Amino acid sequence: MTNTLAIYPGSFDPITNGHLDLIRRGSRIFSRLVVAVLTNAEKQPLFTVEERVAMLEEVTRGMSNVSVDTFSGLLVDYAKRRNAGAILRGIRAFSDYEYELQMALTNRKLEPSLETVFLMPAESYGYLSSRLVKEIFSHGGTVKDMVPPAVERRLREKMEAGRARPVAARRR
Ligand SMILES: Nc1ncnc2c1ncn2[C@@H]1O[C@H](COP(=O)(O)OP(=O)(O)O)[C@@H](O)[C@H]1O
Ligand SMILES: [Mg+2]
Repeated sequence: MTNTLAIYPGSFDPITNGHLDLIRRGSRIFSRLVVAVLTNAEKQPLFTVEERVAMLEEVTRGMSNVSVDTFSGLLVDYAKRRNAGAILRGIRAFSDYEYELQMALTNRKLEPSLETVFLMPAESYGYLSSRLVKEIFSHGGTVKDMVPPAVERRLREKMEAGRARPVAARRR
């Protein structure tokens, strides 16, 4: 195991079994792994940052060298503040490659000493994304093998809260 703190940044809206697979692999390579939720993303998230952090903390509780944090602004600045030596990112299909390459090379330009390390998930998670989970769940499909039980519960609560809201409020 390297004596390196690594940061695993992302939206985690919500955390899936694919993310969790990567966290497990990362926690075996690095001495410490910080899962960092980006708070200034442009996307309109389903879960608040607080909810996403709570879910991440719940599912990583048993992993002693994994912690959860949030950050805004440039990833390289946050990495410097945390004294991180590496960024962890995941690559699923070909489609991830171009975006991830662009990000990694941009971050390297900004901070040459910070390496981005890519890991592949287990084959069965190679198609899995937070977006897909939300889509399937919103149409009543089962996401049982795609997210940890704690996340499935939160999804159900979130959808029930949405349905319970008055129609006028929902349209806004
Ligand atoms: N099923 C998965 N298997 C492996 N890596 C994944 C999976 N889903 C997402 N990732 C990776 O985790 C990281 C964070 O993903 P995500 O939460 O979507 O945040 P972002 O908004 O930065 O893409 C990205 O590197 C993404 O490629
Ligand atoms: Mg993504």
